[in-house]
Amino acid sequence: MLNWAVALELDPTKAANEVDQLATAIAQRPELGWRLASDTWGRGLATEAATAARDDAFQRLALAELISIIHPENTRSRRLAGKLGMSLERQIDNPVLDRKVDVWQTSP
Ligand SMILES: CC(C)(COP(=O)(O)OP(=O)(O)OC[C@H]1O[C@@H](n2cnc3c(N)ncnc32)[C@H](O)[C@@H]1OP(=O)(O)O)[C@@H](O)C(=O)NCCC(=O)NCCS
Repeated sequence: MLNWAVALELDPTKAANEVDQLATAIAQRPELGWRLASDTWGRGLATEAATAARDDAFQRLALAELISIIHPENTRSRRLAGKLGMSLERQIDNPVLDRKVDVWQTSP
Protein backbone atom coordinates (compact mmCIF):
# COMPACT_ATOMS: atom_id res chain seq x y z
CA MET A 1 0.00 0.00 0.00
CA LEU A 2 1.17 3.53 -0.81
CA ASN A 3 -0.13 6.48 1.17
CA TRP A 4 0.21 10.15 0.36
CA ALA A 5 -0.55 12.89 2.85
CA VAL A 6 -2.10 16.13 1.62
CA ALA A 7 -0.45 19.16 3.23
CA LEU A 8 -1.97 22.63 3.09
CA GLU A 9 0.40 25.16 1.53
CA LEU A 10 -0.46 27.92 3.97
CA ASP A 11 0.06 25.63 6.96
CA PRO A 12 2.25 22.68 5.96
CA THR A 13 2.29 21.37 9.50
CA LYS A 14 -1.40 20.66 9.22
CA ALA A 15 -2.15 17.79 6.90
CA ALA A 16 -5.57 18.05 5.33
CA ASN A 17 -5.84 14.52 6.60
CA GLU A 18 -5.33 11.18 5.02
CA VAL A 19 -4.37 10.58 1.75
CA ASP A 20 -4.74 8.84 -1.47
CA GLN A 21 -3.83 5.27 -1.21
CA LEU A 22 -3.20 2.32 -3.40
CA ALA A 23 -4.19 -0.99 -1.93
CA THR A 24 -4.82 -4.42 -3.26
CA ALA A 25 -8.55 -4.73 -3.19
CA ILE A 26 -11.25 -6.85 -4.71
CA ALA A 27 -9.86 -9.83 -6.61
CA GLN A 28 -6.34 -8.48 -6.21
CA ARG A 29 -7.12 -5.39 -8.26
CA PRO A 30 -5.32 -2.16 -7.28
CA GLU A 31 -7.61 0.36 -5.62
CA LEU A 32 -7.32 4.14 -5.47
CA GLY A 33 -9.04 5.68 -2.45
CA TRP A 34 -9.34 9.15 -0.92
CA ARG A 35 -10.36 10.82 2.31
CA LEU A 36 -9.88 14.43 3.38
CA ALA A 37 -10.86 16.38 6.49
CA SER A 38 -14.30 17.88 5.88
CA ASP A 39 -13.10 21.47 6.39
CA THR A 40 -10.90 21.07 3.30
CA TRP A 41 -13.63 19.85 0.95
CA GLY A 42 -14.75 21.92 -2.01
CA ARG A 43 -11.31 23.28 -2.91
CA GLY A 44 -10.24 20.76 -5.52
CA LEU A 45 -7.61 19.20 -3.24
CA ALA A 46 -8.90 15.65 -3.60
CA THR A 47 -8.99 15.96 -7.39
CA GLU A 48 -5.45 17.29 -7.49
CA ALA A 49 -4.09 14.60 -5.15
CA ALA A 50 -6.01 11.72 -6.71
CA THR A 51 -4.95 12.79 -10.20
CA ALA A 52 -1.30 12.72 -9.10
CA ALA A 53 -1.77 9.29 -7.49
CA ARG A 54 -3.49 7.95 -10.64
CA ASP A 55 -0.71 9.25 -12.87
CA ASP A 56 1.93 7.76 -10.57
CA ALA A 57 0.14 4.41 -10.64
CA PHE A 58 0.05 4.32 -14.43
CA GLN A 59 3.40 5.95 -15.24
CA ARG A 60 5.83 4.88 -12.51
CA LEU A 61 4.16 1.70 -11.24
CA ALA A 62 2.88 0.73 -14.71
CA LEU A 63 -0.38 -0.63 -13.33
CA ALA A 64 -2.83 -1.85 -15.95
CA GLU A 65 -5.89 -0.45 -14.18
CA LEU A 66 -7.24 1.16 -11.04
CA ILE A 67 -10.56 0.62 -9.34
CA SER A 68 -12.39 2.62 -6.67
CA ILE A 69 -15.07 1.25 -4.36
CA ILE A 70 -17.72 3.89 -3.75
CA HIS A 71 -21.04 3.86 -1.92
CA PRO A 72 -23.72 4.78 -4.47
CA GLU A 73 -24.97 7.71 -2.38
CA ASN A 74 -21.49 9.28 -2.03
CA THR A 75 -22.02 12.10 -4.51
CA ARG A 76 -18.68 13.83 -3.88
CA SER A 77 -16.75 10.60 -4.45
CA ARG A 78 -18.72 9.75 -7.58
CA ARG A 79 -17.99 13.19 -9.00
CA LEU A 80 -14.30 12.77 -8.19
CA ALA A 81 -14.18 9.35 -9.87
CA GLY A 82 -15.72 10.90 -12.98
CA LYS A 83 -13.13 13.68 -13.01
CA LEU A 84 -10.41 11.00 -12.87
CA GLY A 85 -11.82 9.41 -16.02
CA MET A 86 -13.29 6.44 -14.18
CA SER A 87 -16.42 4.66 -15.34
CA LEU A 88 -18.97 2.76 -13.29
CA GLU A 89 -18.19 -0.90 -13.94
CA ARG A 90 -20.69 -2.77 -11.76
CA GLN A 91 -22.38 -2.93 -8.39
CA ILE A 92 -21.39 -5.63 -5.90
CA ASP A 93 -22.48 -6.78 -2.45
CA ASN A 94 -20.20 -5.88 0.44
CA PRO A 95 -20.82 -8.75 2.87
CA VAL A 96 -18.96 -7.01 5.69
CA LEU A 97 -21.21 -3.95 5.60
CA ASP A 98 -24.22 -5.89 4.28
CA ARG A 99 -24.82 -3.31 1.55
CA LYS A 100 -24.12 -2.68 -2.09
CA VAL A 101 -21.11 -0.72 -3.32
CA ASP A 102 -20.17 0.51 -6.78
CA VAL A 103 -16.94 -0.50 -8.51
CA TRP A 104 -15.45 2.28 -10.66
CA GLN A 105 -12.60 1.51 -13.06
CA THR A 106 -10.07 3.24 -15.27
CA SER A 107 -7.10 2.16 -17.39
CA PRO A 108 -4.18 4.15 -18.82
C1 LIG B 1 -14.61 12.33 -1.39
C2 LIG B 1 -13.85 13.59 -0.98
C3 LIG B 1 -12.36 13.32 -0.89
C4 LIG B 1 -14.14 14.66 -2.06
O1 LIG B 1 -13.64 15.92 -1.63
P1 LIG B 1 -13.95 17.21 -2.51
O2 LIG B 1 -13.26 18.33 -1.88
O3 LIG B 1 -15.42 17.30 -2.74
O4 LIG B 1 -13.33 16.84 -3.92
P2 LIG B 1 -12.59 17.72 -4.99
O5 LIG B 1 -11.17 17.91 -4.65
O6 LIG B 1 -12.88 17.05 -6.29
O7 LIG B 1 -13.27 19.15 -4.93
C5 LIG B 1 -14.36 19.45 -5.79
C6 LIG B 1 -14.98 20.76 -5.39
O8 LIG B 1 -13.95 21.74 -5.26
C7 LIG B 1 -14.32 22.91 -6.02
N1 LIG B 1 -13.11 23.65 -6.34
C8 LIG B 1 -12.76 24.83 -5.77
N2 LIG B 1 -11.59 25.23 -6.24
C9 LIG B 1 -11.18 24.31 -7.14
C10 LIG B 1 -10.04 24.18 -7.96
N3 LIG B 1 -9.07 25.11 -7.96
N4 LIG B 1 -9.93 23.09 -8.74
C11 LIG B 1 -10.87 22.14 -8.76
N5 LIG B 1 -12.01 22.20 -8.00
C12 LIG B 1 -12.14 23.29 -7.19
C13 LIG B 1 -15.10 22.32 -7.16
O9 LIG B 1 -15.91 23.28 -7.79
C14 LIG B 1 -15.94 21.29 -6.44
O10 LIG B 1 -16.98 21.98 -5.77
P3 LIG B 1 -18.41 21.31 -5.50
O11 LIG B 1 -18.18 20.18 -4.52
O12 LIG B 1 -19.24 22.40 -4.94
O13 LIG B 1 -18.87 20.81 -6.84
C15 LIG B 1 -14.35 14.10 0.38
O14 LIG B 1 -15.73 14.38 0.27
C16 LIG B 1 -14.14 13.11 1.53
O15 LIG B 1 -13.05 12.99 2.06
N6 LIG B 1 -15.22 12.42 1.93
C17 LIG B 1 -15.17 11.52 3.09
C18 LIG B 1 -14.44 10.27 2.80
C19 LIG B 1 -15.03 9.51 1.67
O16 LIG B 1 -16.25 9.50 1.47
N7 LIG B 1 -14.14 8.88 0.91
C20 LIG B 1 -14.52 8.11 -0.22
C21 LIG B 1 -14.90 6.74 0.13
S1 LIG B 1 -15.40 5.89 -1.36
